[in-house]
Amino acid sequence: MTSLIPDSGLDPVRIDLGDRSYDIAIGPGLLDAPDTYAHLPTATSALIVTNQTVAPLYAERLARALAPRYPKIHTVSLPDGESHKNWETLNLIFDALLTHGCDRKTVMFALGGGVVGDMTGFAAASYMRGVPFVQVPTTLLAQVDSSVGGKTAINHPLGKNMIGAFYQPQRVVCDLDTLKTLPARELSAGLAEVIKYGPIADMVFYDWIESHMDALMLRDPEALGHAVRRSCEIKAEVVGQDEREGGLRAILNFGHTFGHAIEAGMGYGQWLHGEAVGCGMVMAARLSCAMGLVDQAFVDRLAALVHRAGLPTVAPVLDPRDNVGRYLALMRVDKKAEAGEIKFVLIDHPGHARVQSVPDEVVARVIDASVHHP
Ligand code: NAD
Ligand code: GLY
Repeated sequence: MTSLIPDSGLDPVRIDLGDRSYDIAIGPGLLDAPDTYAHLPTATSALIVTNQTVAPLYAERLARALAPRYPKIHTVSLPDGESHKNWETLNLIFDALLTHGCDRKTVMFALGGGVVGDMTGFAAASYMRGVPFVQVPTTLLAQVDSSVGGKTAINHPLGKNMIGAFYQPQRVVCDLDTLKTLPARELSAGLAEVIKYGPIADMVFYDWIESHMDALMLRDPEALGHAVRRSCEIKAEVVGQDEREGGLRAILNFGHTFGHAIEAGMGYGQWLHGEAVGCGMVMAARLSCAMGLVDQAFVDRLAALVHRAGLPTVAPVLDPRDNVGRYLALMRVDKKAEAGEIKFVLIDHPGHARVQSVPDEVVARVIDASVHHP
């Protein structure tokens, strides 16, 4: 991957996917700016999918902004939280679509974080075999990662994001102002996915994150704007080359193999996705070091940055009787696993990642070294 692409102000970031290409608009005040929804498909109805936390903050503003374009605007507000990213909640979206008589041209709007975005995208992919949808991400995590690239899914008790589809939105609208209402813990969770782009793709950006971490934690608008833009640029470049994760795209899962095990093993919602990814990245860096790819200084540097972002760096014990066994069992249901063999995203040199299997005994040593032993 390449170095820093010059900052292009308020221009959208483009995802090049042939006839599925789209823009990511990034900036303040976009939620109800007149131009934001121009060029979207016209239809008689729109369905805003949001949740009980985000609805009172932003749903009315979005509905008002869409009113000139869509004669009928309906809203469905889902229960909030990762533990609701399941079939039951997905069905609430289908119930709303059918109850309101939504047709194949209905445009769906995902207003919220990654949970709302992933579920809305999956509903859009399957309702009447596919209706258009727009991502309006309101968390940092969703703006820098989940709203971009077309991965949609719900969780299964046995595995994270196990049921889903690749389905691209028509447009992504990142209104940076919405980040002002985000709880501090959620801001930190989003920073995990921002940090991720450094070790896998761009050490210039990583240096920048290190020198701007205080500003990011204080929600400096310029710093947040650059973090969202650069993250989207890197993700757009990766997804543009490998939309359906035939190879390269897997690098975006740096830290996620351990992270998904933590989320499923603790029970969805105990650790936030970003928290699990933050800790998982430190574990994956440690694994890269154990495989002789990077040095300890690289691991320490990453752990320090993850810590400064307010994220955990010590892994939880998932089973006091057989912790390593539990981690390994959970990681074997990761989507990258092949015939039960776990594949890890490792850093082979700072700014570059690879995907490979690792002997169980090396993984076991890293898990052991990563948990807190009282
Ligand atoms: P989330 O959707 O649960 O949102 C976090 C919390 O913030 C929720 O309580 C939400 O209601 C609240 N919230 C959202 N916007 C707010 C705002 N502006 N002000 C105040 N509160 C607000 O979590 P998330 O971190 O956004 O997303 C995590 C999910 O994203 C996970 O399910 C993960 O698997 C998924 N994900 C998907 C991809 C992908 O490529 N599709 C990538 C990364 C993560
Ligand atoms: N968040 C990982 C991906 O989009 O591929």
